[in-house]
Amino acid sequence: MIIEHENSDKININAFQSDLISWFKREQRDLPWRKDQDPYKVWVSEIMLQQTRVDTVIPFFNRFIDWFPTIDALADADEDKVLKAWEGLGYYSRVRNLQSAVKEVREKYNGEVPNTPKEIAELKGVGPYTAGAILSIAYGVPEPAVDGNVMRVLSRILSIWDDIAKPSSRKIFEQAVRDLISHDDPSAFNQALMELGALICTPTSPSCLLCPVREHCQAFFEGVQEELPVKTKKTKTRKVQLAAAVLLNSDGKILIHKRPASGLLANLWEFPNVELHHSLQNEREQVSNLFSQELKLNTELDKIIGQIDHVFSHLVWNIKVYTGKISADFQDRMDWRLVSFDEMEEFAFPVSYQKIYQMFRNSLEE
Ligand code: ADE
Repeated sequence: MIIEHENSDKININAFQSDLISWFKREQRDLPWRKDQDPYKVWVSEIMLQQTRVDTVIPFFNRFIDWFPTIDALADADEDKVLKAWEGLGYYSRVRNLQSAVKEVREKYNGEVPNTPKEIAELKGVGPYTAGAILSIAYGVPEPAVDGNVMRVLSRILSIWDDIAKPSSRKIFEQAVRDLISHDDPSAFNQALMELGALICTPTSPSCLLCPVREHCQAFFEGVQEELPVKTKKTKTRKVQLAAAVLLNSDGKILIHKRPASGLLANLWEFPNVELHHSLQNEREQVSNLFSQELKLNTELDKIIGQIDHVFSHLVWNIKVYTGKISADFQDRMDWRLVSFDEMEEFAFPVSYQKIYQMFRNSLEE
């Protein structure tokens, strides 16, 4: 079968599928979520793999499946423990949505992940990419699973010059997958595109000489593989300056605070902090005033032990880290806890605050 793609010359689809899939079967990495086709495990892995690299995901995936081996186990788990399992992966709304969605699967579908595009796409946090990945990998349904990597690969193979940063481009690539996908093995086909993007068809310096589908690749033919995909730059990220403090009481307990239930890093724990809007003269005193006005905390701030930068997709935090003491009259309140060093292990902190805690522990040893 030969099709003419809107943006390409001719591609022999059968030969393309067979070259791609046989390469994948030979060369695929041994990854823990490839051991079986359990839709729940495929789902967990695909959610983790959004925005996070494979090497980072592997240990998190193994521990997550160890702690929550089934839909029931995750549906019944305490949210704090679920967040703890995700601690360090970032983009925590991913796991909150996952837990809501498995509850829905249990209630509405008797614990079986649905296998139709319509039903699966209605689950919380399941966008077109995840829906296509679960349907194709777990159920063998020939649906596209198009993420940035797949767009890069296909933009080169078919010489597609649409801007992949534009949300509207996804449809073009989904149609391209619908035209090309193997109906005999949609699972291997989609995973092979992902694997090719990870191992060969990399963002810079793609390894075209090792590529199993080089002879089908329009960009290689034209010598433009380094110019594709077209991807416009995002607008600049906003910078936010924070001052945080590791505050101890007279028993040596540490004051921590639970972040609000919605918004950035919702429900994770942090050290008390305030945003600084201007560079301040006499900063320690001013920070101490802000702690008192905004957080109602009477503190005695000590030295700055360092700074942490943390980059999110839309903003950058620069956090100045103070140590200090909390006054003896501190009263327990909602969302605030005084905890021992041992108890700290039980709370989920964003990576930036884990780094702050590490910095603090190191400062004690100096
Ligand atoms: N990236 C996204 N999904 C993946 C998968 N299933 N295997 C490897 N890399 C991936």
